[in-house]
Amino acid sequence: MTTRSEPAAPALQWTDELALGVPRVDDTHREFVDCYQVLAAAETPDARLAALETFIAHCERHFAQEDRWMKIVGFPGCHEAEHARVLGVLREIRDLLAQGDTTWLAQLIREIPEWFLTHAAGMDSALVLFLNERGFDFERETLPDGAQPFSCGPAACTTAGGC
Ligand SMILES: [Fe+2]
Ligand SMILES: [Fe+2]
Repeated sequence: MTTRSEPAAPALQWTDELALGVPRVDDTHREFVDCYQVLAAAETPDARLAALETFIAHCERHFAQEDRWMKIVGFPGCHEAEHARVLGVLREIRDLLAQGDTTWLAQLIREIPEWFLTHAAGMDSALVLFLNERGFDFERETLPDGAQPFSCGPAACTTAGGC
């Protein structure tokens, strides 16, 4: 029914330059790339839907892990909201795809690489730096004994449009 002018080789590949130096983060990001490649290579409607479901399940785990760490250390900013925004888009596209509309999936596949590279180098990198500076234990998901979560104080948090 539909024809595709691609698929070209996936534009997103794992390289060591993407590593942020924390095994749990890097393993998760490598899995993101793997899931993306399966999605980008899927050729039949059933395969595309299954690959998108798998990609969404990955993103739910991936983003929940980072959101959990942000809560533990009191990480400020809009990182968690960005995760929620992306998951909302993915679920909308999944619902459209389930109805046979592949338009948005094609655009999603084109846009994910740039989004991920920007997100990993910006928000995720900043989070890792913040966690490392506080001695966060990524395996046990704990701060050192006696360390308090970050708090910018009520005055600073009243500033609108922080991100
Ligand atoms: Fe991430
Ligand atoms: Fe993130």
